[in-house]
Amino acid sequence: MIKVFQSWWKKEQKQTLPSLSKDNVPSHVAIIMDGNGRWANRRGLPRIVGHQNGMKAVKRAAIAADEIGIKFLTLYAFSTENWKRPKDEVDFLMRLPEEFLAIELEELIEKNVRIQMMGHPEELPKHTIAAMEEAMRRTKHNTGLVLNFALNYGSRREINDAFKEAAKGIAAGTLSPDDVTEEWIGAHLHSSELPDPDLLIRTSGELRLSNFMLWQLAYSELWFTDIYWPEFTKDHLFQAVAEFQRRTRRYGGLS
Ligand code: FPP
Repeated sequence: MIKVFQSWWKKEQKQTLPSLSKDNVPSHVAIIMDGNGRWANRRGLPRIVGHQNGMKAVKRAAIAADEIGIKFLTLYAFSTENWKRPKDEVDFLMRLPEEFLAIELEELIEKNVRIQMMGHPEELPKHTIAAMEEAMRRTKHNTGLVLNFALNYGSRREINDAFKEAAKGIAAGTLSPDDVTEEWIGAHLHSSELPDPDLLIRTSGELRLSNFMLWQLAYSELWFTDIYWPEFTKDHLFQAVAEFQRRTRRYGGLS
């Protein structure tokens, strides 16, 4: 009886997923994973329990992205502004990459996932960067989904750094102002090896970019949902991609 119910339920769940076209899957999806704290507060739990459950949603999002055929998934895990949070919370967040990788790395390797990160690694605790470096080393030859963690990442700082590099090059006479093209700038951002995101998702009902990939999101489609990040499932990713597939991207031109 239970088996009959389970197979009916599986079928039922499949039917509720929107059908996606294989031809128009966003190559790069970026996610602002917001609402961990509120998810926990609503349940009378400490904020860190929200982050812990947010980690589980990271796994679900990565597996679902891989299944749909998304090539790059960038997750905003810690911003340059998040250091302002209470030390206990920051310490907890800095332990999550290790915890996540200790649990999930083998399966991600099996799934041919490549782990990357963008941000300022030199300011992260040694244990955090050691875990990330090991994951990047062990997955560097993988050719499947690129799972890119934005860790200690801030877009204005990233753009500012590129400006400084241009200014230094011009002052030293190794770069001319005409060399500083959009391509040059893109190549001097942390995301230089990734295409710009096609789709940005933000959870928790907040409608802002919070210093995330400001240059790279110039022509991305935006999708917002009220659900909190720990509640994010494959179903939500499918909904976002289905909505993306209904949009017409004109890049300032005519369709
Ligand atoms: C924003 O929610 C979330 C963060 C600052 C942290 C995001 C981190 C994770 C989802 C876990 C990362 C996992 C790995 C593997 C790196 P918030 O705390 O600001 O929520 P609130 O706005 O409701 O307070």
